[in-house]
Amino acid sequence: MNNIILTGDRPTGRLHVGHYVGSLRRRVELQNSGKFDKIFIMIADAQALTDNADNPEKVRSNILEVALDYLSVGLDPAKSTLFIQSLVPELTELSFYYMNLVTVSRLQRNPTVKAEIQMRNFETSIPVGFFTYPISQAADITAFKATVVPVGEDQMPMLEQCQEIVRKFNATYGETLVEPKILLPDNKACLRLPGIDGKAKMSKSLGNCIYLSDTEEEVNTKVMSMYTDPDHIKVSDPGKIEGNTVFTYLDCFSRPEQFAEYAPDYSCLDEMKDHYKRGGLGDVKVKKFLLKVLNDELSPIRARRKEWETRLPEVCEILKEGSRIAHETAAETLCEVRKAMKIDYFSADNGLV
Ligand code: TRP
Repeated sequence: MNNIILTGDRPTGRLHVGHYVGSLRRRVELQNSGKFDKIFIMIADAQALTDNADNPEKVRSNILEVALDYLSVGLDPAKSTLFIQSLVPELTELSFYYMNLVTVSRLQRNPTVKAEIQMRNFETSIPVGFFTYPISQAADITAFKATVVPVGEDQMPMLEQCQEIVRKFNATYGETLVEPKILLPDNKACLRLPGIDGKAKMSKSLGNCIYLSDTEEEVNTKVMSMYTDPDHIKVSDPGKIEGNTVFTYLDCFSRPEQFAEYAPDYSCLDEMKDHYKRGGLGDVKVKKFLLKVLNDELSPIRARRKEWETRLPEVCEILKEGSRIAHETAAETLCEVRKAMKIDYFSADNGLV
């Protein structure tokens, strides 16, 4: 069996460092590992419209932003197919067939959808498209016969629901679809990177994000305002590590060799944490170290973005060609699906007459 990756993001804003440690960084490693036969990276515009139906301009204006974020983190169009969801109409068709295999009550139990409905205050006026997006996500994954889906932890319920649909489809219509595996970050701290205010999740509406495209000055201001331990008032006070955003970020980003270079008083993060816990290590010093660490990671990304920003017609061409390939690939799966479902009425080998 082939090793195939499919994953993607909703184009509702620029991508931030939460996306980066949750999934983007991993995608680039997997891409460069040479272990995958095909890699599909999707800009999920149709999914973004499920809760932005009245704001198509927002979705449209973020297509290129997300594409630039992809290219600047190191996704390489020669190795990964970057495409736009709505340009693959087979995904919509497949969703329609999958809808017959999923109950309303099963959708209502999906914890991510439940949380999102609450967050958006939909109450009883939930758009049907939004409510059913886990089904469309199963279509996204299975249309490409993806074996591996690298995503953040919040996508776990989507993957479980996708696996159920695959099993149900194969049991009903015969072995056709491939059951995918989810791939979460190994580093626990990266599962859910908090915003700079220490709130559970980075989100544009909370204004607590560090974007991949932020300038060095912007990152500087954000890190300096970052939530730490509110009881750590004087430098000599003992400090708390748990829930201290600066240390959570260091857990996600710092590399052993950066201590020798930028914080030679410590040989590793644990030593720095111990000093903070004992007292005597000030927030500003830790934040300055974090800035160096973040800058090591973000400056090559910024440089590549700057370069790609001068080549937007080429970026469009990459998306157009990627979408053509994705469309072709999904069409092959749809032929198999229609045959399994016995709706291939005029096919050469299984037609009505
Ligand atoms: N739901 C994902 C997000 O919000 C985007 C997405 C759509 C996706 N279809 C997918 C991710 C299929 C993985 C696989 O970012």
